[in-house]
This record gives sequence, C-alpha cells and structure tokens, in this order.
Amino acid sequence: MKIAFTAVSGQLGRTIANCAIEKFGRENVIGTARTPEKVKDPGIEVRKASYDYQEEFAEALKGIDVVVLISGMAAPDQRIIQHRNVIDAAKEAGARKIIYTSIIGKDGNSTFDAIVQSNRQTEQDILESGLEWAIGRNGLYLEPDIEYLDNYVKEGKITNCAGDGKCSYTSRDELATAYTSMIGDDSLNGRIYNLAGEAITQQQLAELFNEAFSTDLQYVPISVDEYLRFQVEHNGEFLGPIIAGIYQKIRNGEFDIKSDFEAVTGRAHKSVREICSEGRGIKKAN
Ligand SMILES: NC(=O)c1ccc[n+]([C@@H]2O[C@H](COP(=O)([O-])OP(=O)(O)OC[C@H]3O[C@@H](n4cnc5c(N)ncnc54)[C@H](OP(=O)(O)O)[C@@H]3O)[C@@H](O)[C@H]2O)c1
Repeated sequence: MKIAFTAVSGQLGRTIANCAIEKFGRENVIGTARTPEKVKDPGIEVRKASYDYQEEFAEALKGIDVVVLISGMAAPDQRIIQHRNVIDAAKEAGARKIIYTSIIGKDGNSTFDAIVQSNRQTEQDILESGLEWAIGRNGLYLEPDIEYLDNYVKEGKITNCAGDGKCSYTSRDELATAYTSMIGDDSLNGRIYNLAGEAITQQQLAELFNEAFSTDLQYVPISVDEYLRFQVEHNGEFLGPIIAGIYQKIRNGEFDIKSDFEAVTGRAHKSVREICSEGRGIKKAN
C-alpha cells in the first residue's frame, strides 16, 4: 500500500509521515510539498505539488493508494477550492482512499467560524467524492502554546477572551497515532472522528504550565472585543481575527467536544499534563 501525505514540509504532515514510516515502511510513504526544499530530513520520496494546481497533484499522486490531505492555510473560499483540487486529483490518479485532517468545533458566530465552515465543506466534498474515506477533526494543538511560553513568562500571564470556557487540546504526536490507525484500518472508514484529549480551561492550562515548566503564570481573561483589537493590532487583519475567534469559540464552549480518540487508536489520549511534561523537550529544542 502506497501512502501520500500532502504538506509534508509542514509540522503535522511531517509528524504523521514519520509515524507512518514506522508502521508501513519507508518505501511505502511518499510526501508531497508545495516547496520540496523546505522538507526537513525527508528520508522519503518527495514530489512537488501545490494545492493550487490540480494537474500537479494528479501527477504527484500517480500510483498512490491512500492520500492524507492536510488542511491548508489559505482564506476559507480559496481553501475549499484548493482541497477540491486534491480530492479531484486523487480520483483522477486512481487512489482508493482519502483521509482528511479537519478541525473540531460546534457551530458558532465567531471570527473563526468561516474557517470551520470551510473545513466542513471539504468534509462534505470528501463524502461525495466516491472515494473510500475517513476524516479526523483535530483538537487544538498544545505545541504552539508551549512554544509561546517565553512570551507568556515575559508578560507573567496568559491573556485571552476564553474566560471559563473549556477547550479539547491535543498534540501533533497524538494526532499522528490516530491518523496512522485510520490509514491502516479500513474498518474505521466512512466516519468522522473527533481527535482530542480532555477539555480544560485556560486557568487549568496556566496551572499545568506552572507545574511542568516551573513558571508562575496567571490566567487573565479579557473581553472578546478587547482581545480582537489586540490580535488585529499584533497579527494583522487576516490572522488576528482567526486567533481571536478561536478563543471566542472556547469561551462559548464550542471547542469542548466528546473525543473519539480511543475508538480510533485503542488507547486513551495522553493527558495535557503528560504532553506538557514531554513539552519540556520542545522547549529545550527551541
Ligand atoms: N488544530 C490546530 O490547533 C491547528 C493549528 C494551526 C493550524 N491548523 C491546521 O492544520 C494544518 C497543519 O498544521 P501544521 O502545524 O502542519 O501547519 P504548518 O507547519 O504551518 O504547515 C502548513 C503546511 O501547509 C502547506 N501549504 C500551505 N499552502 C499550500 C499550498 N497551496 N499547497 C501545498 N501546501 C500548502 C505548507 O507548505 P509550505 O511549506 O510550502 O508553506 C506547510 O507544509 C494547517 O495547515 C491548518 O489548516 C490546525
């Protein structure tokens, strides 16, 4: 069975591909990348393919049985078209099955919801593709928060608009375990899985960081409007509302979901405490 991963230059694509190498053998794992020169330590065949060009993808997916489509980063309308390019290319190239990395989230009206909706549209496109399929809805990665820890420490606090809302977090390593199961086990086909660990508040996150990293962070909630203004000022008109909308969804309980991780992998998801303790390694590596 030949498996192709899109966006293997990115962190999730690379992490799942590395896990798949262990299970399916290096010779059966192929990476695709818009920018192949960015692929770190490939050790696998890498083929050039951008989500913007269906023909390029159809060529790159020749001889592939299972395609793992990593969600893109473009604006929602563009992203839907890009994902359709990959789905259509997979069909054109004769692939048997497609797996898609989507996002958790109940419907809401935050500034992140257009992104969630674009992921839901791709899910629908996959359901209607005629290919065999399995879809994961990813919880929020913990790693970006761990990588941001020095900034939290400088400020002495974690500040956002999540309030008392709970969020179901995960890590790219945990997701890699789940997607590797979904690749190999066809009895998991035809379903959408929430892939995340326990749901925690930002107050609990601050406490777990303090425990794991010997910090002394407080959680300081602010209003949705104030946080949106802050994010737009610091991260601009595209990314700012996306980040602010994520915390608005947490505030509204829309990222507090029931996980299917154990049904997919056969084991419980690691706790946030365990991921944070492994995260000490992430901190040292930076
Ligand atoms: N659940 C979460 O917490 C969370 C957080 C952030 C993002 N996400 C989603 O999860 C996805 C994977 O996350 P990540 O951590 O791996 O992000 P990442 O490290 O930033 O990687 C993003 C990847 O997308 C690729 N890409 C972007 N536009 C492309 C295009 N037109 N054609 C082909 N490849 C393209 C990038 O390729 P280049 O190297 O060429 O730029 C890169 O490989 C993201 O794209 C985003 O949709 C989820």
